[in-house]
Amino acid sequence: MRIKRMAWAILPLVVGVAFLTGCQGASADRDLGVAERTYVPPGEMDEYYLFYSGGHGGDVRVAGLPSMRQIKTIPVFNPNAAYGYGYDDETKEMLNGLTWGDVHHPALSKTDGVYDGRWLFVNDNAHSRVARISLRDMRTVEILGPLPNTSGNHGSSFVTDNTEYLFGGSRFAMPLPRGTAAPLEDFAEEYNGVLTAISVDPESGEMSVAWQIKTPPFHWDLSSTGKGPSHGWLFVTSYNTEMAHTRLEIGASQLERDLAAFINWQRAEEAVAEGNYELLNGVPVIDPADVPGMMYYVPLAKSPHGIDVDPTGEWIVGSGKLEPSVTVYSFEKFKAAIEAEDFEDEMRGVPVVRHDAVAEGMVPVGLGPLHTQFDGRGNGYTTLFIDSKVAKFRLPPWTDEEKADLESVVVDRIDVHTNPGHLVIGGSDTREPYGDWLVSMNKDAAGRPLPTGPQLPETSQLIDITGEKMEMVYEAFTDKEPHFAQIIRADKVNPIGFYRRSENDHPYQVWSEDETFVRRNGKVVDVGMRAVRSNFVPDNLEFEQGDTVRFHITNVEQTHGMSHGFGVGGHNVNVDINAGETRTVTIVMDEPGVYPFYCTVFCSALHQEMQGYIVVYPEGEFPAN
Ligand code: CUA
Repeated sequence: MRIKRMAWAILPLVVGVAFLTGCQGASADRDLGVAERTYVPPGEMDEYYLFYSGGHGGDVRVAGLPSMRQIKTIPVFNPNAAYGYGYDDETKEMLNGLTWGDVHHPALSKTDGVYDGRWLFVNDNAHSRVARISLRDMRTVEILGPLPNTSGNHGSSFVTDNTEYLFGGSRFAMPLPRGTAAPLEDFAEEYNGVLTAISVDPESGEMSVAWQIKTPPFHWDLSSTGKGPSHGWLFVTSYNTEMAHTRLEIGASQLERDLAAFINWQRAEEAVAEGNYELLNGVPVIDPADVPGMMYYVPLAKSPHGIDVDPTGEWIVGSGKLEPSVTVYSFEKFKAAIEAEDFEDEMRGVPVVRHDAVAEGMVPVGLGPLHTQFDGRGNGYTTLFIDSKVAKFRLPPWTDEEKADLESVVVDRIDVHTNPGHLVIGGSDTREPYGDWLVSMNKDAAGRPLPTGPQLPETSQLIDITGEKMEMVYEAFTDKEPHFAQIIRADKVNPIGFYRRSENDHPYQVWSEDETFVRRNGKVVDVGMRAVRSNFVPDNLEFEQGDTVRFHITNVEQTHGMSHGFGVGGHNVNVDINAGETRTVTIVMDEPGVYPFYCTVFCSALHQEMQGYIVVYPEGEFPAN
């Protein structure tokens, strides 16, 4: 009896083990199958570029897709010694004394509503700046800001169909003009939110602040731009329509619905042309109450975050973090509602359009919906922060039956690890998404990579979305702390391998030993230095204490990727001079002594020999005196 009972007790265990073993076999087969899809053998290249924003790391990371291998870092708002960024005069001037930024949303430039492979724009959530990276050389070429009249440029960068504008939104309402101090108890009256339109020169890409819209002290969050029928419109969310200024997790969560703004930016352009604005810190600032037809509020479910326009431009999907559904608005219905003045309220002179007149429906995707991307086949994909899932749902048109129970349009949900923030599908904000891969960027990586102590990377999971059901394929780890990413087909980008001599416009460039120079003008000395494998000319330099020396170093190589470095210990200098360019670094020789310098880039077999000496004599002891 006893043995029999034991056998019965063991049986489920045995069956269980057998079942598990079987499963593991199947799972291993499955893993091999999906691994094949991301495997890029040595010598072959990825099909896509993946540009991650680097969060408060202040940079952008470039990876290949589908391999997810990181290729490069592009320093933007942060000095980076590996790229010699922030040490030479040119990049120091761009950084303007700030050594960090908070990069949230990268946006690729577009022509006719598709990526044109020219520029990548990124925002700085901390200091209200935007930066432009040229995809020609994958370097930061411009930083604009701090934007006047704003604080915390979170809702950026989002680019219009022909890169006419990228938009910014102030995260933190402030009293205007900047520098004004107003009591926080007068927050609702004395503080303002500001939305900024930044125009982009179609030839050079140069950015400038075009105009701004002044709003109540809402905290502006995210935005997206219209396309097709909604071209000319901007959609923005705010998470603090309550106008709270303390304990926002409670204060800004009072209302069942906050207000999203739908803005006709072509109407704003007209208002500026008509002179219908106030000039504030040199920027035309529009009060929407004075410009009928420019701005409308649309109620959006509790504590909104993402708002995303689908590839047709008809469906606008908004998420409220505290509402387990996404709201799908119809742009056609919105147009009809404003035509019919179907308003439920007004907010300081701006109509609030009746929610049900604009909303096509609320799809119960799950808990904590944040952002939605589109595959171009009529589906939306939303990250669920609290559920730690990505939900896939079908966009309208829906049948009456489906409308009665919108759970029926949720096609699939997939687990991700853990707490996904943004997700990205290549081209989701264009007319033509690629629709094959989805990358979920997950905030909590605990337990996923090898343990690295209390400070964790993030996980970035690759999901195949070509089938009806999503399929988890790969997991990569990204150093702290990407927020969002953009994906572009590799053949749309054509980076150079070096700078041609003919395009070098630096006034102190030198291309031969004969052209090199040391020119003294009082206590300022200009050095025209040539760098080539494997020497610097001149390499023995003598100065007097107190001299300000400007080294203009030309790397005369005309070979793909042949950089030279210029590192000086004791002076906190390391510059990376790319092939064909001239960079300037200024050093004040404030202490006498001998300062060796050397090439920090492993350029050649005799890289170690590529070095020189700077001798600084005490004041009055300079031999030339
Ligand atoms: Cu040049 Cu190392």
